[in-house]
Amino acid sequence: MVGASAFGSIAEPRTQPAPFEAVARRKRVFSGIQPSGSMTIGNYLGAVRRWVRQQHERQSIHCIVNLHAMTLPYDPIDLRRRTLDLAAELIACGIDPEKAILFVQSEVPEHTELTWILSTQTMFGELGRMTQFKDKGRGDERVGSGLFFYPVLMAADIILYDTDSVPVGEDQRQHIELTRDVAQRFNSVFGETFVIPEADIEKEGARIMALDDPTKKMSKSGGPANYIAFMDSPDEIRRKINRAVTDSGSEIVARDDKPAMKNLLGIYSLFTDTPISELEARYVGVGYGQFKRDLAEAIIEQMAPIQARLAELQADPDEIVRILNRGTERAREIATPKMEQVRQVTGISLKAGW
Ligand code: AMP
Ligand code: TRP
Repeated sequence: MVGASAFGSIAEPRTQPAPFEAVARRKRVFSGIQPSGSMTIGNYLGAVRRWVRQQHERQSIHCIVNLHAMTLPYDPIDLRRRTLDLAAELIACGIDPEKAILFVQSEVPEHTELTWILSTQTMFGELGRMTQFKDKGRGDERVGSGLFFYPVLMAADIILYDTDSVPVGEDQRQHIELTRDVAQRFNSVFGETFVIPEADIEKEGARIMALDDPTKKMSKSGGPANYIAFMDSPDEIRRKINRAVTDSGSEIVARDDKPAMKNLLGIYSLFTDTPISELEARYVGVGYGQFKRDLAEAIIEQMAPIQARLAELQADPDEIVRILNRGTERAREIATPKMEQVRQVTGISLKAGW
């Protein structure tokens, strides 16, 4: 049964999951990324690198969450361009659209439909406690209510696909906890419908900090001094690393009282697969200037093949659209029957026979 199609048996209702199915089916991974700017090395080291590794042994679904990117003010022309750029960046990083399903959120309307239904099972107070809402909304009453609803849409993204595991950075832990709570609540009200997903957060790389402020996370919505992006040229990378803030003193060690060096050493270690202790030993008695020059060159070297592939892909945007359309079809093969199951168990389907 499992071999029937790429995602064969999983698209069927799971009201009575047969025990063998859990063993027989490969783990399913779902993750999302916002097209709110060029992909940063924070996205790459915290999430995307893992997606690339996991696609070989797990059923992987990766979604460009353009509806989430609408929750803060944005320019429509930029959003479309960034959506295609991000798809190219993900493929350039190694996401293989033949293996993984890569698609754009708004192309699968079941995401928004399920969001409404889940909103009826999500408490107002739960959403008010989300730290990302508090950070981005900053207590401003005039902030769009979509920002408040953001975690419900994210929960819908995940559970619509009977996801087992969600590989994300540390910043998303609270949203995944909420997803689990909402899915469990739904199951207890309407009967077993959704798989309860697990967060998959790695210790290393889970939180890459901003270059201009090591107390904040690196983010593509921060100013350009905050991050290094895949669209940055080698000279920009050199300049940004050179200007990155450092700690007082001159020691190159990854201690909690040296947050800037801890962050830079972490980036260096992840990019070059070198343990931090080995880097600390290598840089005893060496100045920040030399360390930063080496770090910039290491980043440039690792990013060069990805950037070369990216340039090729960007030369053919029609091909990117074709790849995404194919991803939409494959995503809907799973989402459509799942949503029909939800319509039936909630009593909004008029189909007979349930
Ligand atoms: P976003 O760009 O906010 O849509 O995030 C996409 C993925 O990258 C999510 O799994 C995030 O947790 C992860 N991510 C974003 N920024 C960072 C960061 N600074 N450090 C580690 N992971 C990150
Ligand atoms: N909120 C996530 C972020 O900012 C993006 C996202 C949307 C997501 N839907 C998702 C991540 C589903 C994982 C699974 O990073």
